[in-house]
Amino acid sequence: MKSRKLGRGVAVVGAGMSKFGCFPGFTSRDIFVDAYKDLLNTIDKEFDPKDIEAFYLGNYSSDLFEGQAHLAPIIANWIGLSPIPSTRLEGACASSSIAFREGLIAIASGLYDMVLVGGIEKMTDLPISAVTDTLATAADIPYEVSAGFTFPGFYASMATAYMQAYGATPETFMKVTLKNHENGSLNPKAQFGQKIADIMEIKKASAIKKGKPAPQWRNEMEFLSDDRANPMIAWPMRLYDCSPVSDGGAALLLVSEEMAYQFTDHPIFVIGTGAASDGPLHGRPSLTSIPSAKLASNNAYKMAGVSPSDIKLAEVHDCFTIAEIIASEDLGFFEEGKGGKAAEEGQTARTGLKPINTSGGLKSKGHPVGASGAGQIVEIWKQLRGEAGERQLAGNPDLGLTHNVGGTGQTCVVNIFERR
Ligand code: COA
Repeated sequence: MKSRKLGRGVAVVGAGMSKFGCFPGFTSRDIFVDAYKDLLNTIDKEFDPKDIEAFYLGNYSSDLFEGQAHLAPIIANWIGLSPIPSTRLEGACASSSIAFREGLIAIASGLYDMVLVGGIEKMTDLPISAVTDTLATAADIPYEVSAGFTFPGFYASMATAYMQAYGATPETFMKVTLKNHENGSLNPKAQFGQKIADIMEIKKASAIKKGKPAPQWRNEMEFLSDDRANPMIAWPMRLYDCSPVSDGGAALLLVSEEMAYQFTDHPIFVIGTGAASDGPLHGRPSLTSIPSAKLASNNAYKMAGVSPSDIKLAEVHDCFTIAEIIASEDLGFFEEGKGGKAAEEGQTARTGLKPINTSGGLKSKGHPVGASGAGQIVEIWKQLRGEAGERQLAGNPDLGLTHNVGGTGQTCVVNIFERR
């Protein structure tokens, strides 16, 4: 692929998200309003929403999840932005990173000066079996799903291949769970705002209250290894290795670089973007890496003129714990086969050398699929501005990266952000 540059610079000057979780009785449009209001509260200086020229919305499947298609103009209208052009973009779980890229390209091309980008998904209206089937439509129906594959199954295959190739164990994956739940416990917008230790204590108290024998877990690893507390979903992926089914939305305000300081003294600049596609998992030579992620990140690094070692923090697509480990290698943070060890050693913790998923990641923050990429950008924006509250990284990080995968890697989008 040719190395490319943006036609002009682009900055993110506002970023907001709804809480992620399960919100019965609320539709996508209601949830997006929360994200949009949150964004409006983050814009430091005077701003008139009438100056927004276009809206790009990432959404995987409101058609199947809610029976409502054509969502972008509906949401634009609901938040008072009609009649601006409003477009929905779909790329499975990478939908809102694709929407972000399209908004970025539109400003970089000079077509617009200000656009709103967002993502939304309302998944929890359907029973879990229908959610699983809906998600599976992002895979190859005739060649994979008809053979019995669902998403936990795909990532379980990758996990077993990784264990076989590099000697990782189920405990390696549990370290990712512990870290991401710990980070999520510091994020008020996270679906699971609890550390595994807290969940363990709640379960113990609940058993005692019901007059059952108190569980004998001595620590979190014993809790996570207990088939009753942490049931197997698709070996070796257990419940706490999976991202949850979630509702949620996220929104970002993008402007041209020359306008950025009109809205804030602390814009965050987009200095690199890369995207790539691939065929389904069944045709790939290896199950232990995702080629589109390598390509997308190489292109983003080239555009940004930085290398993996320059990146201070990353939000990566941990739809399952194994996915975070593979991402940390595909992005060049660790050598192939070394990401599992790095997770075990705490190198990806908030205090580690390469903090990953300080928000709690999809695992703990939640994974409303069409909103997850935009949600990752919200976290990087906050961390680079020093506004991430209790989970704020020390040392004023200046470069952050997002990595968002669609399906098993048929789509991948990587973006790099800078505080100047
Ligand atoms: N992580 C941690 N806890 C979870 C969880 C998760 N992923 N999913 C559910 N829970 C908890 C619930 O909060 C609930 O806790 P409680 O008993 O204390 O109230 C309990 O587990 C049962 O929840 P329930 O909603 O009945 O679970 P479920 O069996 O319907 O769903 C999964 C569990 C793993 C099947 C579901 O979360 C799933 O399919 N995840 C993967 C989603 C996916 O594939 N996304 C796309 C990725 S590419």
